[in-house]
Amino acid sequence: MAERHDAISVIVTKRDGGTLSDDQIDWVVDAYTRGVVADEQMSALTMAILQRGMSRSEIARWTAAMIASGERLDFTDLGVPTADKHSTGGVGDKITLPLAPLVAAYGVAVPQLSGRGLGHTGGTLDKLESIPGWRADVSNADMRQQLLDVGAVICAAGAQLAPADKKLYALRDVTGTVESIPMISASIMSKKIAEGTGALVLDVKVGTGAFMKNIDDARELARTMVALGTDAGVVTTALLTDMSTPLGRGIGNALEVTESVEVLAGGGPADVVELTVELARAMLEGAGVTGVDPSEALKDGRAMDKWRQMISAQGGDPDAPMPTAPHVEEVCADSDGFITRIDAMGAGLAAWRLGAGRARKDDVLDLSAGVFLHKTLGDEVRKGDVIMTLHAESEDKMPRGLAALSEACEGAGTVEIGSSPVDRRIILDRIGAEDASGTGR
Ligand code: URA
Repeated sequence: MAERHDAISVIVTKRDGGTLSDDQIDWVVDAYTRGVVADEQMSALTMAILQRGMSRSEIARWTAAMIASGERLDFTDLGVPTADKHSTGGVGDKITLPLAPLVAAYGVAVPQLSGRGLGHTGGTLDKLESIPGWRADVSNADMRQQLLDVGAVICAAGAQLAPADKKLYALRDVTGTVESIPMISASIMSKKIAEGTGALVLDVKVGTGAFMKNIDDARELARTMVALGTDAGVVTTALLTDMSTPLGRGIGNALEVTESVEVLAGGGPADVVELTVELARAMLEGAGVTGVDPSEALKDGRAMDKWRQMISAQGGDPDAPMPTAPHVEEVCADSDGFITRIDAMGAGLAAWRLGAGRARKDDVLDLSAGVFLHKTLGDEVRKGDVIMTLHAESEDKMPRGLAALSEACEGAGTVEIGSSPVDRRIILDRIGAEDASGTGR
């Protein structure tokens, strides 16, 4: 069958600053998924998009074309509202783990399709795989049943969910074209809309450890995604949240599960609790549940009960001990003062090099590896106090972890000790549908 467009004319349209027609977008996304448009042609097109941008209507059409490349789940007949959260990725960001059972404790079902980590930010599925027996792969039928029985499921997206995005994201990853707000927006929202959630809260991270290093870019990304979700009938809001410092104390798969369980038991670090509660509130509001205080279900054990059911339903043992690293090395304060910086990128890279993250898709993780922060931003320290410990399977990983810490911030290092305390604001802004209009380029 003759193709109705050719890749070169689509590339040239965008290369020269033109607007792609709906038909060009539908064709190129579909033809790339079918293998008719070659990787090198799609690389040229994504580079042109990165440099020239896309209008809001091009982004919306691109998103719709990626959704149409696969299946679209539908939970409208479950009999309960549904809500989900997506984070653009950060260091120590384990929030999904306590959040999904917390929201389910209020009768809102959470169908959370998550991913694996690549690079310095971890993936939710990798974290949960620290729990002996836990399985990420759940069929659509089992997912539906678990939503009915438990109210929350965190699992891998099936191969049929936005396959165009799977292929395209892998290509962007190796061609220096990930950092395009239009393509990030379309990539995230195609998966979230296809997943069939009724409400969606986006946690758009800002800072050294995030995709978006400054608040203006983060706001543009948030507005674009909120508009896409709203136009697709998903009640969508975004929180812009700080990622200049890691979230919580544990960075690394098992360390993050342990910390999440502490939060579910009513404890845990204040920043993790605050963000979990605020995201839960936004998800519940999106799903029509208002006037509740989500911190209650952390304190009274309801969220913990849901967590235990959710883990058991996927074969995991919620009582099994977490893997622990045989080698631990301390990093100590070299002066008295207050911690004025713990750089998220430095800490994330250190955890990655210790074995907590992958450089290539098929790398095997050390689930016990990572960084644990004994002191955090604003804490007072005395010379010699332990600021953090590095955890790894083998001692020879330590030098690379330590080097990552000292290379951060252009050689100034991950940790800075100053003479006066600093405060941290976690939630920087909130973007609702009413804030999301704009042009998108
Ligand atoms: N996460 C995604 O799913 N897609 C992107 O393009 C970037 C981050």
